[in-house]
Amino acid sequence: MAQLWKGRFKKELAKETNDFNSSIKFDCRMYEEDIKGSIAHATMLGATGIIDKSESDSIVADLGKILEDIKSGKLKIDMEAEDIHTFVEGELTARLGQTGKRLHTARSRNDQVALDIRMVLKKEIDEITAGLKGLVTVLCNKAEENKQTIMPGYTHLQRAQPITFGHHLMAYCAMILRDIDRLQDVKRRMNVLPLGSGALAGTTYPLDRDMVAGLLGFDSISANSLDGVSDRDFCIELAAALSLVMVHLSRFSEEIIMWCSWEFKFVELDDAFSTGSSIMPQKKNPDIAELVRGKSGRVFGDLTTLLTVMKGIALAYNKDMQEDKEAIFDAVDTVKMCLNAFTPMIDTMTVLADNMRMAAAKGFINATDCADYLVGKGLPFRDAYKATGQLVALCIDKGLTLETLPLEEYKAVCDLFDERVYTAINLEKCVADRLVSGGPGVQSVEAQIAAARDAIK
Ligand code: ARG
Repeated sequence: MAQLWKGRFKKELAKETNDFNSSIKFDCRMYEEDIKGSIAHATMLGATGIIDKSESDSIVADLGKILEDIKSGKLKIDMEAEDIHTFVEGELTARLGQTGKRLHTARSRNDQVALDIRMVLKKEIDEITAGLKGLVTVLCNKAEENKQTIMPGYTHLQRAQPITFGHHLMAYCAMILRDIDRLQDVKRRMNVLPLGSGALAGTTYPLDRDMVAGLLGFDSISANSLDGVSDRDFCIELAAALSLVMVHLSRFSEEIIMWCSWEFKFVELDDAFSTGSSIMPQKKNPDIAELVRGKSGRVFGDLTTLLTVMKGIALAYNKDMQEDKEAIFDAVDTVKMCLNAFTPMIDTMTVLADNMRMAAAKGFINATDCADYLVGKGLPFRDAYKATGQLVALCIDKGLTLETLPLEEYKAVCDLFDERVYTAINLEKCVADRLVSGGPGVQSVEAQIAAARDAIK
């Protein structure tokens, strides 16, 4: 297919140059946005009298048909074309002749491509947001079912204090809610129309940029034409927000992988979301979680690509910027793919509550509550801490737990103890009493669930 810029050249383009230069293989996915952007541009050109209204009408009608034909498969996108913009304009001119050649009046591919990526990514943000909301819903439901499921909470991967599995899940929910919020923030700054920036210096035609912004659903128009064509902050911001999504999914995956091990056995994944080994018949592997953890690397790489591509580019447009698309599309596709597998995996996993409870019974995770009991009797916390430490050492020596240590031993360490200490260190009570807002107590977790469900309405 011919280039749009043939006039000044005497020779044909080398095949190697076209292969290297062409972006059609990855920008063809923007065909719908490219055509819709052109329809809005042509409509404005007609409305402002920059081109004849009748010609604008024919361009709009034919662009609509081209869109339908690509969607139905009747029209195949030519993979030899330089890019999607060239292909669409070429097809329009093939159908409309002279009139088709008027479409690109007062426009450059530089502002056109800046528009197309924004339109595509706005849609992708909506899709990913829907996916994240799906995960929030699953987490809330699972947390609801497990708001009484006692498990050890960890620091340094050492058993620390009692929590519930519901409370643990709601921690991930809080991260995902922040991710959703961040994506909306990225979208807000992305929602600025660059069209009208021309190649770099705007145009002499009396464009109605606000009209185009209105037609395409943009909140505002870009303030400076140089920045309009060469800003890719929104790609970088999106890649950064998606990197954080992947950090969260990856941390969660790491825990799933541990919880599936015989060492933990806190959860069992559904057969439909696990894989086996070709040699070890007993194996049931958490491959989905491992792949999600691994794929986080791709998305961080995409962010690094975008930052590196942009950091040395003099104003305004440079061809380096064509590298934006593969990186940001890969980040978007990876996150969507991960969510698609991850959410149903969480939804269908079985929680092994008895194993969690057994793990909670070991490791002295009620030691803080034992110290708090002494504080309740008037002892300063630091002294209570020390006395409890001595009790824990005693238990370890005797192979006992705080629950099974006889009262005389308690009293020998501190005479403030009486038999009510056993109630104070009961794990169910330790959790139930943690009603501080944000804590693992049942009402507190219920409030977290209600707030999360409300946030995604
Ligand atoms: N394929 C190009 C890109 O993705 C479109 C813009 C081309 N502009 C130019 N001046 N060559 O960036």
